[in-house]
Parts: sequence; structure tokens; C-alpha cells
Amino acid sequence: MRITFRIVLSIIVVVSAIAFLLTLWQVQQEKEGLRRDLDRRTSLLAESFRETIEPLVKQPQAARLQQIVEHFGNRERLAGVAVYDSKDQLIAITPALAPQLSTIPSLVPDAMNADRGTGGFAQIGNTRMYLYALPLHREVVVAGALVIFYDATYLQDHLFRIWKNNFVGFLVQALLISLITLFVVRWSIVGSITKMAEWMKRLRTDKTAELLHFPDGDIFEPLTREVAQMARSVVAARASAEEEARLRQAAESVWTPARLKEHLRTLLSEKSLYVISNREPYMHIRKGTQIECVVPPSGLVTALEPVLKVCGGMWIAHGSGDADREVVDNQGKLRVPIEEPQYVLKRVWLTKEEEKGYYYGFSNEGLWPLCHIAHTRPIFRMDDWGHYQTVNEKFAEATLVELEGVEDPLVLIQDYHFALLPMLIKEKRPDARIGLFWHTPWPNPESFSICPWQRELLHGMLGADLIGFHLQFHCNNFLDTVDRTLESRIDWEHFAVRRGQRRTYVKPFPISIAFPDPAAPGLTKQAPRISKETLLETLGVKAKYLGVGVDRLDYTKGILERLRAIERFLEKYPIYQGQFTFVELGAPSRIYIKHYHELIAEVEAESERINWRFHTEEWKPIILLKKHHSHEEIAPFYAAADVCLVTSLHDGMNLVAKEYVGAREDEQGVLILSRFTGASREFRDALIVNPYNIDQMAEAIRSAVEMPVDEQKAHMQRMRDILKKHNIYRWAANLLTELAQIRIEKGSIAKS
Ligand code: G6P
Repeated sequence: MRITFRIVLSIIVVVSAIAFLLTLWQVQQEKEGLRRDLDRRTSLLAESFRETIEPLVKQPQAARLQQIVEHFGNRERLAGVAVYDSKDQLIAITPALAPQLSTIPSLVPDAMNADRGTGGFAQIGNTRMYLYALPLHREVVVAGALVIFYDATYLQDHLFRIWKNNFVGFLVQALLISLITLFVVRWSIVGSITKMAEWMKRLRTDKTAELLHFPDGDIFEPLTREVAQMARSVVAARASAEEEARLRQAAESVWTPARLKEHLRTLLSEKSLYVISNREPYMHIRKGTQIECVVPPSGLVTALEPVLKVCGGMWIAHGSGDADREVVDNQGKLRVPIEEPQYVLKRVWLTKEEEKGYYYGFSNEGLWPLCHIAHTRPIFRMDDWGHYQTVNEKFAEATLVELEGVEDPLVLIQDYHFALLPMLIKEKRPDARIGLFWHTPWPNPESFSICPWQRELLHGMLGADLIGFHLQFHCNNFLDTVDRTLESRIDWEHFAVRRGQRRTYVKPFPISIAFPDPAAPGLTKQAPRISKETLLETLGVKAKYLGVGVDRLDYTKGILERLRAIERFLEKYPIYQGQFTFVELGAPSRIYIKHYHELIAEVEAESERINWRFHTEEWKPIILLKKHHSHEEIAPFYAAADVCLVTSLHDGMNLVAKEYVGAREDEQGVLILSRFTGASREFRDALIVNPYNIDQMAEAIRSAVEMPVDEQKAHMQRMRDILKKHNIYRWAANLLTELAQIRIEKGSIAKS
């Protein structure tokens, strides 16, 4: 049965049921009213007549009685009048009524017996009548009854008219509602369904990415979003399957999400993965009355999020968004990403004091500058150390609760915020395989030794079965540091630390990003193509060349040095004044730390000073966009920039360099890259610079803007090939395989 027919039929059934019940009720009410009216009228009539009749019944005067009855019965609608004696004998009757009245109506004796005026309907001959019998008295004794006969046929007609009118009204209503329904169904449902079916069919057969956006959601808006999401997954799965097939054909070994998933399925079987980091992958922020979900600026998040999406499992992190608590369950958990949940995010709550001491204090004023050689003096405070210990214990507790009942779990701890966590977990769960990945560089033993709690930190870290750094160089530094600080045996052949019966392997795993695959729009959101001219125009400048920098505003990133190099370039090559504009997409970071606060002010002042020196009416050399930019906002800059400047004074890896290379599908653009980044070990085709050498950087900018397109392409192609092979899925596969295959020695744990 077609849906429209079903809808119309249902409407007719419902409307008729309602109309029938309403009419029935209306007729009942009407009938009651009319009956009361008849009763009142006939009783009044009878009462007024009684006085004349009663004396004639007392001393029977039949002729006189008959005369009066005839006279009285001659009224409108009054069918007649009859008088009976106490023996039920008819003693007078209106002549017109006489032929129809063969027997005495039953209500007459009833009225006399009860000695009470009684009314009711009765069929008299062919006519439906209303009768009212009023007892007549001789003294106090009932001597007979006066009966009024009222023609009630009009009443039937009236009720019939109600039924008829209501029926016609119902018909018109049902017809109108059906027509409107048919119209609405055709117009907004059938039309949209046909459109959506057509769109889905094209999705199935076509590969065009723009199809992923349904043109007009209409009432199907929520459904459209879901279907579009599903379509994205289908397109991504198809692209991934095609890629797999292509790779098999070409016997290549690029790691894709599908390959990683399959690999982990065999490697881990049912084991779950627990990732712990300070920074969470999604923060919920209150904006007026709305809650917004943002991805924070963090290389760690950029790298790990695609892995979690593939592996599933749980990510435990500090809930630092001001609306974070409003969207989680009572265990602080929610499934993310919101639009297509793939893993669980568990938020751990910290007090203001804890955040101040552990995050701002010990982690970012102590360990961060300690690990980066950027000539910023680390600050170690006793209080901060106390909070660092407490928060590591808090995270250990939050993790151990999740590990309860889980056999041989895999725990992957991230970064310098959690140096104590590996041992805290290992002590309680020796069966857990614990990996610690250190995202920053590791300094030489002399530098590290300035930390008053270096022994405790190293002891905590060695609770891990595997410690990963980006570079072999950092691994060597770490092993040297342990060698000089703790009682242990360093196995240089296998790069491991032996303490008691436990062994910790220390290996390099250069981190990366998910290489953006244009064939898999479900995995990487396509950036809208915006030309360089339009981008610059929206920023209010005209220029021929565009340079870009994307950073957290951090003193390790060499932003001031970069600005000075731009100044030097314009000064040395004035021909580029009015031609080259540099856009810095700088996300304020750790702003409650004085040094960071001052850095922002300095970057602003330097930009203003350089702009003031060179600017013209239509052009300025530096545009500082000081805010957190989403990946979607950054993408057009990567795609349009002639040159990307990554000038860190020291950096574990630096994923901005990799993002820029990944974004350049056109194989153009030049990357200027600090030799003090981990990325410079992989991207030999970048223009490698020393950020402390301002003149060298100025020269690099000139080489970049003057580099012929062919040369750009040759460099970019090689870097893209490296990135494609050394992507984040390969990083995860290597790290997790290593971790899963380590033989866990559950021996005694050495004292610090
Ligand atoms: C570096 C650290 C990460 C950190 C990121 C952002 O990449 O290695 O652990 O998440 O900076 O810093 P934030 O303090 O904002 O998390």
C-alpha cells in the first residue's frame, strides 16, 4: 500500500471516528433538551387544562367534556387530548385522534397509579408522539387522567438534520485534510526523498568529493548529515580499498588507516589501547550560550588523533575546556569525534592549584625549557614539584580504574607531563605493557642534571617497557643521562636500560601526520581552494609573494628570529618591498606564564616596528593573526603560500613542516626549515637554516621566492614521497608493534 494512500486512509478513519462520536454526543444532548422542552410544554398545558376538566370528571358530564376536549385539541403540533376515567375507560377524545388510538397507552395507568404527571414517547398509529398524562382527582382520590398528545415527528427530522449536516461537514473536512496532506507529502517529503535517493545513487556510482554535501537539507537536515557522514566513510573505505589494491599491485609498503587497523587486529587481538596525555584532543568551550568543540593547537594531538580514530580504545587527558564538564557522563567520559564517535575520551579534572603547579609550573616552566635548548632558564619550585607528583598520582588512579579486569593492557603515555606515571602504573600492574613517548628533545646529561629531581623523574620514566623519542640522538642523550644518574646497566647493543630484573628499551620513532589523501575525503577534510590574491585581499594587502608561519606563540619556535630575518631580507633586497608579505598564524599558548606573555608582546612590537619601517599604502610585510586557527582555517594558507617558515630554536619534530608539505598537492612551494627540528633529518630537500643566523635566513627567503617552479617541484615531490611513506600510521605501527612484542619481565622493581 502506498504511503500516501495509508496516510489519507488513516486521516479519514480518524476524522470519521471523531465526527461520529461528536455527532452522537450532540444528538444525545439535543434529544435531551427537546424532551425536556416537550415535557415542560405539555405539563404546563395539562396543568392549565386540569382546572376546567377536573370538575367535569367529578360529576361525569361526557358531552360537555367532549366539547371542551375538541376545542382544546385544536392547537398547533398538538395531535389531540384524551380523558380517561379511573377504570381506564376513554371518556372524551379529540376526534382526529380517535381512529389512531385503539388501546390505552401504558403510561396513562402508570401516571394514575403513581398519582404523578408522567411524560414519554409512544408510537400512536403511524405517528411518533410525546404523551403527557396528568392524574385528575375527585377529592383526594384519582378519578381519571388527562392525556396530552404532542406530535414529535419534527424532533426526528431535527435530529436527522444534525446527522446529515455533520456528515457533510465531515466529508468536506476529510477531503480538505487529505488534499493538503497529499500536497505536503508530494511537495516536501516525496520530492526530498526522490532528490536524496538520486543523490545517494550518485554517491554510490560517482567519486566526486563535492557530492558529499547534500545541496539542500530541508526537513531531512539531520538525516542528511548522518548520511553524508556515512557516505564519507563509504568513499573513504572505497578509496582505502583501492589504495590497498594499488599498493599490493605495486608491492609498496605505505601504511594506511586500513592497513594499520588490520595489523593491530592481528597484533593486539582483543587488547585495548589506553593513551594518556595532558592535552585533550577535543576541548569544549563556552561561547555565549553555545558550547563549541575545538581541537587545541598541539602537535601531539595532530599526530595521535588519527591513530586513535583507527585503533579505538581510550584517551585519558586533562579536561581543561570551560564547558568540558557539561558534555561528559558521570565518569567524565564521552565518545569522540562527536560527529562520528570512534574512541572514548576520559577527562581528568584538576584543581586550579594543581593546574598551576603541575602544568604551568613544573611541566612548562621547568621541564619544557630544560628539554629545549632555547636559552630560557628552567625554574624549579618545590611546590610545583609537589603538584606534579600529585597530578601524576591522580592520572595513575584514573588509569588503573580503567585497567581493572583488563588483561595485558597496552598503555601509551605521552610527554614530559607524565614522567612519573609509567612507574606508578607499573607498580600496580606489572602485566601492563607501558610505552612512554617523549615529544620534546632530550638534552645532554649536563643540562638535565640541573633538575633537582632528576633521579625521581628518571626512575618514574623507567617504569615504562619502551621509551620513544623522535631521534636516535635524543635516545643517546637519555641513555647517557640514566647512565650518569642512576645505578643501572646500559645495554648499548639493544638500546635498553637494565635495572634489577627489569629492562626498558629506548628507541627512536620519528612522529608524523596522516598524509592527506585527496582520494579519501572521509578521512581528511578538503580545504576550500582560495587563491593567494583573495587571501591577501581579505587581509587588506596586495603582494606578489606570500610567506606563512604557523605556531603556538612559544619562545622555542624562533618567531622573533624569523621576523628579523624578514626585515633583513627586505633591507638587503629592497626590490621585494611591496612584494613579499608574511602571515603569522600564531596561537596564544600557556599565557599565564610570564615568559609566554612577554613573548606575545614582543612579537607584536617587532611586527609593528618592521611594518612601520617598510609599509606602503597597500602593503605591509607582516600580518600577525594572533588567535587559535582551526585546521580548516590554516589549510588555505598552506595551499597558497610560496614559502613556509619553520624556524624553531629547538624542536622535537615540528609537524607544521610536515603539514605544509602534506598540503602541497600541487607540488609547489618552498619549506624553510630550522636545522634544530627533528623534521630537518627527514626533509633534506627543505632549505635548511640556522635560526640564529639572521642573514642566512634572509638569503633562504630570497632563494625561496626566486626558486624556479621545476626546482620547487623536484624538492616538494621528494619530501612528499618521504612523508607519504613515513606517515603517522607507520609511526603507530612501529611503536605499537615494538611495545606489543616486548617480553614483559615481571621482576622486582628497583628503588629510585
Ligand atoms: C608540545 C608538547 C605537547 C603539547 C603541545 C601544546 O607539542 O610536546 O605535549 O600538547 O606542545 O602545548 P600545550 O601546553 O598547549 O598542550
